[in-house]
Amino acid sequence: MSHADFTPFQVEQFLSELEHGVVFNFSESGVHPMSLQGLVDLAGIDTAVLMQTMLDYPQVNGKQSLRDTIAGFYPGATADAVMITVGATEANTLVTNTLLRPGDNVVCFRPTYAQISGNAQNRGNEVRWVNLIESNGWALDQDALNNAVDDKTRIIHVVNPNNPTGQVISDQDRAAIIAAAARAGAWIVTDEVYAGTEREGDAETPSFWGSYDKVLIVNSMSKAYGLPGLRLGWLVGPEDIITQSWRRHEYASIATSMLSMELADIALAEPTRSKLKARARQLIRTGFDVLTEELDRHPGVYDVVPPQASAMSFVRFDLPVSSEDLAARLLQEKDILVIPGSRFGVEGHLRFSSALPEDHLRKGLALLNEVTADILARS
Ligand SMILES: Cc1ncc(COP(=O)(O)O)c(C=O)c1O
Repeated sequence: MSHADFTPFQVEQFLSELEHGVVFNFSESGVHPMSLQGLVDLAGIDTAVLMQTMLDYPQVNGKQSLRDTIAGFYPGATADAVMITVGATEANTLVTNTLLRPGDNVVCFRPTYAQISGNAQNRGNEVRWVNLIESNGWALDQDALNNAVDDKTRIIHVVNPNNPTGQVISDQDRAAIIAAAARAGAWIVTDEVYAGTEREGDAETPSFWGSYDKVLIVNSMSKAYGLPGLRLGWLVGPEDIITQSWRRHEYASIATSMLSMELADIALAEPTRSKLKARARQLIRTGFDVLTEELDRHPGVYDVVPPQASAMSFVRFDLPVSSEDLAARLLQEKDILVIPGSRFGVEGHLRFSSALPEDHLRKGLALLNEVTADILARS
């Protein structure tokens, strides 16, 4: 493959080039992160014990007790079905590289977090896009799914709850995905990093684990637990695939850090795990209410299918400007960062994150409303 064929990770490139130093960062996908002190207080950590952590190479596939705990989240799984990775990001890359062979295709939904698709394209594999339908609550176009999947389909990639829409896959769409995968003998790779961030109730989004034999689950500490700086994720699946991914993990990173494994082990133990998820949900619920209240100040301009989960809202706007130009204007004039819908392949939208301290959120949204008023006055 020549250099020119390389597909950058559009969303992450946008964030990594722009997010540092911005005043109103409404582009994050998780909740406002916790400090180490916050975690120490919440979990009642004995810092003297924590200070004894050896800054050594950890067990490469992940600390045993951490893998035991995570295996407990997936009925029937043992610690050997779990590998600890550097965030969900590494898990996504390992799983793509482990599963894909030349000539395989990958089926992805649009809009979504386009990491597996980008990895697949960069390996020279075909990516087939299936649209999610906004007017139908971002439900799946099942006919398009059935047309896209064939006997060369190796992976159907599911992000549930989804980024950027925050929607949870319905039972009917879930059944259609499983039926399509079974027909083709494809793997379902499910990124479940937003499970636990439900906005409307406390019932957690059910995992795809156990619903089909060829399922691989990706998850991490970054979203529902508010600890993205740990850079710790996991991959769960059949042991042979986990072992093959482990061989790739040795090339990619060797392991995440010892300290991250210690802290994740503490964070995932009850009652800390439930407390962290409760914190995330509280931030998400308040933040969404503030967001919609502020966006409603210009009736008919902004509209959103309310996200069922996650800190994100994929907001449609009716303004005579492209999503890239609107995002650029907000950044230049008001120091507000939001992600243009074009980065997800969907024009006329902005992705907002609103699980932030309320005062800060309101200040930034008031500035956004000034830009909105100016565009409306000139059009
Ligand atoms: C769906 C999805 N998967 C994975 C990631 C990356 O997660 P991590 O911080 O665990 O690498 C993100 C981050 O935005 C995401 O939205």
